[in-house]
Amino acid sequence: MAVYVNESKKLFTLSTAHTTYQMKVDEYGVLNHLYYGENIGQEDMSYLLDYRDSGFSGNVYEAENNREYSLDTRPQEYSTCGVGDYRVNSVSVVNPDGTDGVDLRYVSYNISKGKYSIPGMPALYGDENDADTLQIQMQDASTGLTAVLYYSVWEERDIITRCVRLINQGEGDIVLKKAMSMNLDLMNGDWELMHFHGRHCMERQMERVPVIHGVMEIGSVRGASSHHHNPFVVLCEHTTTEVTGSCYGIGLVYSGNFAMQIEKDQMGQTRLNAGIHTERFAWSLKQGEEFYTPEAVMTYSAEGFGKMTSNFHHTFREHLCRGKYKHERRPVLINNWEATYFDFDRDKILQIAEGAAKLGVEMLVLDDGWFGKREADVSGLGDWFVNTEKLKGGLKPVADGINQLGMKFGLWFEPEAISEDSDLYRQHPDWALQIPGRKPCRSRYQLILDMSREDVRDYLYERMTDILDSANIEYVKWDMNRHISDVYSALLPKERQGEVTHRYMLGLYDLLERLTSRYPNILWEGCSGGGGRFDLGMLYYFPQSWCSDDTDAMERVKIQYGTSFAYPISSVGSHVSAVPNHQTGRITSLASRGVVAMAGSFGYELDLNLLTEEEKNEVKEQIQTFKKYYHLTHEGEYYRLTNPFENQMFAAWEYVSPDQTEALIHGVQLRAQPSSPSQHIPVRGLNPDKMYEINGEMVKSGRAIMYGGLNLPRQMGDCMAFEYYLKEV
Ligand code: DGJ
Repeated sequence: MAVYVNESKKLFTLSTAHTTYQMKVDEYGVLNHLYYGENIGQEDMSYLLDYRDSGFSGNVYEAENNREYSLDTRPQEYSTCGVGDYRVNSVSVVNPDGTDGVDLRYVSYNISKGKYSIPGMPALYGDENDADTLQIQMQDASTGLTAVLYYSVWEERDIITRCVRLINQGEGDIVLKKAMSMNLDLMNGDWELMHFHGRHCMERQMERVPVIHGVMEIGSVRGASSHHHNPFVVLCEHTTTEVTGSCYGIGLVYSGNFAMQIEKDQMGQTRLNAGIHTERFAWSLKQGEEFYTPEAVMTYSAEGFGKMTSNFHHTFREHLCRGKYKHERRPVLINNWEATYFDFDRDKILQIAEGAAKLGVEMLVLDDGWFGKREADVSGLGDWFVNTEKLKGGLKPVADGINQLGMKFGLWFEPEAISEDSDLYRQHPDWALQIPGRKPCRSRYQLILDMSREDVRDYLYERMTDILDSANIEYVKWDMNRHISDVYSALLPKERQGEVTHRYMLGLYDLLERLTSRYPNILWEGCSGGGGRFDLGMLYYFPQSWCSDDTDAMERVKIQYGTSFAYPISSVGSHVSAVPNHQTGRITSLASRGVVAMAGSFGYELDLNLLTEEEKNEVKEQIQTFKKYYHLTHEGEYYRLTNPFENQMFAAWEYVSPDQTEALIHGVQLRAQPSSPSQHIPVRGLNPDKMYEINGEMVKSGRAIMYGGLNLPRQMGDCMAFEYYLKEV
């Protein structure tokens, strides 16, 4: 059991292998957060609550003359609103009488074996051997608003997941204006914030900044988690490295509008609130109704970012990803997008497949352009009927032809989008999100379907199942190529328009659940103009996501570095593409494109027929290498060896087998320099006492290799790949 309760002290301790999380109900019924950090057993940490009178921080009424007790300074589990805590709050409402106060006090608790689930939303799953759950019920005595705080404790994995269920147990109807998934109040520490920002083709660029006095916020109001910010942040010490120091990793299992608010208060304490963004959010909660927040996932590491990442990677692979391909090796694929864009027909696709099959590629994915009137990106979205002018006889002959080559066949969809130039739009203009009387904002010429509507989802389900049943389709790429604007749902009354963006997500999740459970053997890949919806919510339905529309190896080194902090290697869709690269014009070696793409679900995105014989042989070898090392790249322990935002000369990463008998170090010399000094690649995760043969040549101890490093191979040219394979002898 990982949850301990000291009834007399009202002390709750969540215990994992290496961490302790503790909270306590005080004399006024406030649930104080006491501690989250290295495992300290069940010792009562409430001695840390050492607050003085601080002017202009008011006192709860029951405290009478005690000017030292203030909600404005106390560390709380779920921060209240309008009753004396001026810091960022976790919940805010419009009460039936128009007031906005929320003051939650302790009522009761409950402990159960296993993991809670969240109705209609993605969440980590596990049985009674994986997690224990604590529920703490809080209530506002004046209004009856009840908050049930859920904590599932994953003892072996050093993970705690959280969500909140808000129930209107009062007399009238209320409106939720803010309902965050979690609050974390850290009494001590001088923290830095690490987050992953970016833009299209440039996702998850790592940035690390000190937390300032005031409120820092990262988030998205784009209706998707977005390329621009990722719903994952790290709080760390200034000195935290990959291998040393404290850090907290916090991720949201949600794919829509989100906010992570980080505040350093007047006392130097740090508060982190995470959940659905308040922008355009107003949820009407009638008497007796309830609302679940999305899930938040937390881990603490005292051994730097590496341990944090390891906790997340293993947990997400085991307890978030689902379906046949949770562990099964994913086929090496070829995607025709950068090879043909919209300009293809059946013969062209079969020709690309044939060339690829000869080199060992195992699946062809037919991307955008196979349906409706889709000669360019201006039309056709929504008309999910095969374009038989391009593909004579439909999809079946294509799939069959590809199957005859010994390959699987996969297909692209963009279900959430609609082109104005489509039969669907002509029949159902009200299915698109748009504000009455206002011309909608177009993006990539398209609009967005209102996924909160059941009729829209039923149409998509019917169309997609019809297509998926019409041929042997073993993979689906689910794309989404614009962000949401003009938020208005034609079916909802005006007082419920503030629910549209979250209802959109609930609708999307509902459709994804229906489809992925009907086709558990299909390999589902998420995509949103590359990695614009690369988040834990999507990982529940799709075990991999296309990482970025930027396929340039040099750029990918950084994008995949940022992505790796939370997301497992197996979740990163990554392809070798043509040179000059279509996004940057850069020419990089085939070998470097290969090693970078192998740090993910590997594939190709070019017409392999156009390569020279020498290059084709290299591709053949690359595919063999990928298969040979798959058990390391996808099942091994992953290590970031360098930070490409700091080290401009070379980037390196490593995979080590669980038994430490094998390791693979891959990397890229980013820039060649004349007369360069010798450079050493740091190595980690080996057994110091084992002897390893390095690239079949020299033998050295794990100790020597880890403490001395390996020499960076001397190579001429920028973006040159290197590889070290270590095997115990
Ligand atoms: C954006 C995706 O990221 C690309 O890979 C490709 O599928 C295009 N959309 C197709 O429109």
